[in-house]
Order: sequence, then C-alpha cells, then structure tokens
Amino acid sequence: MSSTSNTGTSSSSSTIGIIGAGHIGSAVAQLAVDAGLDVVIANSRGPETLTDLVSALGPHARAATADEAARAGDVVVLTVPLKSTTDIDPEPLAGTVVLDTGNYYPQRDGQVAALDDGSTTSSALTQQHLADSSVVKVFNNIYSESLRSLARPSGDAERTALPVFADDEEAKAVATAFLDVIGYDAVDGGDLAESWRAEPGRPAYGLPYAAGEDFTAAKPAGADAVREALARAER
Ligand SMILES: NC(=O)c1ccc[n+]([C@@H]2O[C@H](COP(=O)([O-])OP(=O)(O)OC[C@H]3O[C@@H](n4cnc5c(N)ncnc54)[C@H](OP(=O)(O)O)[C@@H]3O)[C@@H](O)[C@H]2O)c1
Repeated sequence: MSSTSNTGTSSSSSTIGIIGAGHIGSAVAQLAVDAGLDVVIANSRGPETLTDLVSALGPHARAATADEAARAGDVVVLTVPLKSTTDIDPEPLAGTVVLDTGNYYPQRDGQVAALDDGSTTSSALTQQHLADSSVVKVFNNIYSESLRSLARPSGDAERTALPVFADDEEAKAVATAFLDVIGYDAVDGGDLAESWRAEPGRPAYGLPYAAGEDFTAAKPAGADAVREALARAER
C-alpha cells in the first residue's frame, strides 16, 4: 500500500495501525505480520509497556501511541472496550478505514440505553464518534484464540469467513481485502445498522467457530455457515 492511499491492503508494504493491544489487537497483529504487513500497535498506557509484545511480533511490528498508530495505519483496527471508544481522538483517523472489533457488554461498558432498546448498534455509535472515518464492523464475533488459529490461505477447503458490516462499500472492500491477506473470507452482512446480527447472543456470535459447547475449541466455518447464522438472528 502505497504512500499515496489510505485504502487497500493488497500490497505487502501496507501498514496496519492497531489501537488496543489486548486479546484481539495482538491476534490481528500476529496475523498481519505473518502476512508480511507492517504493524504499529498502541494501548492506553504507552509504547514502553508493549516491548514484550512487539519483540514477540518481530521486525514488522512497532509500538506507538494511539495517535501515532492512527496516523501510521493505511487501515486502522480499533479494538478497545466500547466504553473507551469515546476516548479515541477522531482527528488522526479522519479519512481512514477503521475496523471496529467492539462489542457491548453492559457489565464492562455500563448501560447504554440506545443499545439496550435496540435502536442502534455499537458500531453505529463508533461511526458517530469517528464521523470523518469509514467504520467497518469486523472481528467482533470470533474468540481471539480462534481468530489466531483458523487463518488459512485463499482457496483452502477449511477457509473461515467473517462477517463485515459498513455504511461505505469501499471501506467494506478494504476490509474484505485485508481479511483475504491475513487468511479469511468475508461475508457482506450489510450496513452498520444490520451489525446487531453478529452481536453477542446472536447465532453468528462465536458459535459458527466453536466445536461444540466449548467456544474456545476452534472449528472452521465457511461463508455459507456464517450467512445462515446471520440470517437466523432475531432482535
Ligand atoms: N477477547 C475476545 O476474544 C474478543 C473477540 C471479539 C471481539 N472482542 C471485542 O473487542 C474489543 C477488545 O477486546 P479485547 O478482548 O481485545 O480487550 P482487552 O484484551 O481488554 O484489551 C483492550 C485493549 O484496549 C486498550 N485500550 C483501552 N483504552 C484505550 C485507549 N483509550 N487508547 C488506546 N488503547 C486503549 C487496552 O490498553 P491498556 O491495557 O493499556 O489499558 C488494551 O490493550 C472489545 O470490545 C471486545 O468485546 C473481544
């Protein structure tokens, strides 16, 4: 990815900014460096607290502040608890495709009336906060360890699919290209208003990728299985 564009991930020179270095952030970082992409990763406490992580990730990864990761990324993964989303400065993310992995867990995030009554989705709220970015909901419905273990090359019979939701079709295409590079197919789930279909408690949340009751035991799930799970969701 080029020095001139902040979209697309087809080239091995792409840089992925990652804001949030926890379970999902570090899993996406690992998949990205494995795919030959550069990663700039941040947490809330500062780059000096990420030394072990970036050294494990290797020379394609560096730690930074959230502001630096936002500016460095051709695509930026936002993977912080929902309650922390409003702490993220929208300015350095303006014009950038932001992949939002967030879920609403009231016990962690506090009650949000508009989510409790189903009148919006957590990613629509994130899009509202990051008004000048193009938000894509992705990675929210798979356990982080399954995300690490289920990546497969394009065309593999056991390739797993993840749903993507966005209001901006170009941003959805960018997310789809990124997924392809790191080892996943994409299922177009619709716009952000539809992303409740992959939210916690719905059939597409964790279950397609779980072997039996134990959601920590990973199982590949192709596009048809994911589409079917999204279609079965009830609000
Ligand atoms: N865990 C899963 O398997 C999973 C799966 C799918 C989706 N999700 C969702 O994805 C999101 C992230 O989950 P997670 O499990 O990866 O969380 P996590 O392990 O708790 O990690 C959260 C990360 O966000 C960072 N952070 C918090 N506030 C920040 C801020 N203002 N600026 C920069 N970084 C900040 C934290 O940094 P510090 O440690 O320095 O505070 C930490 O690195 C959540 O909404 C979660 O529900 C999780």
